[in-house]
Amino acid sequence: MLSTGPAAAHDLRNPVQAIQAGARLLEREPQRNNAATIIRQIGDSARRMETMIRDLLDLTMSRLDGGLPLERDPEADLRSEFEQVVAEIEAVTPRAIHVDLAIARIDCDRARMGQLLSNLLSNAVTHGSPDLPVRVEARVLDRIFQLTVSNASAPIPAAVLHGLFQPFSRGKDSKGSGIGLGLYIASEIARAHGGHLTAEMRSGNVVFTMTMPAAAPAEEQRRIARSAAPKA
Ligand SMILES: Nc1ncnc2c1ncn2[C@@H]1O[C@H](COP(=O)(O)OP(=O)(O)O)[C@@H](O)[C@H]1O
Ligand SMILES: [Mg+2]
Repeated sequence: MLSTGPAAAHDLRNPVQAIQAGARLLEREPQRNNAATIIRQIGDSARRMETMIRDLLDLTMSRLDGGLPLERDPEADLRSEFEQVVAEIEAVTPRAIHVDLAIARIDCDRARMGQLLSNLLSNAVTHGSPDLPVRVEARVLDRIFQLTVSNASAPIPAAVLHGLFQPFSRGKDSKGSGIGLGLYIASEIARAHGGHLTAEMRSGNVVFTMTMPAAAPAEEQRRIARSAAPKA
């Protein structure tokens, strides 16, 4: 079962109201001992709100002509980007994350690809079965870039899995503070790169796979161009 739509309005208001309540408290009693706790909560709420607003803007942009705009770098250091995203999520979860990155430089929008992994990985640690590891693998095979993020999960019927890519779709018992845009935006990032994002159940695991064409590394392209050039 999916819930969509208007819930997002509440989700947007909750953190704003928390900020306002915290600010009111500080205004009344600026010397309170727990001021530090309240200020931290204000910061957390503001960050959640920032993420929601960013996601809503991405939704709007993806609906405009041509999908999400990219800033491609033909030699983006995607390995470093992914390592950074994994470290950020490891810092906020006790879950084990097994990482195998057999990639280096890839023609892509580095920040957007980081956002894609971040969305998939935060879902895996939030929605996946607790106490079981999450796996992240990236490789290039036959000029196809492939990223998979998998975690153990209660069985999800195929029809429900495919529906999760719709904006504002969330599982019935969804945890976390997301508003159901993470998978939609991840699939739009894949689409903007000429690729796609899929989900399937594979022996008790939910597996998200992003694939896209991967250009040959620049040095290899130069070598191909040299060998193809007519001899003088
Ligand atoms: N790795 C996962 N394991 C199990 N369920 C998932 C996973 N990723 C996503 N889901 C389900 O898909 C829904 C949509 O995910 P998403 O678009 O990221 O929205 P959100 O995380 O904000 O709920 C989640 O609410 C959850 O029910
Ligand atoms: Mg999410």
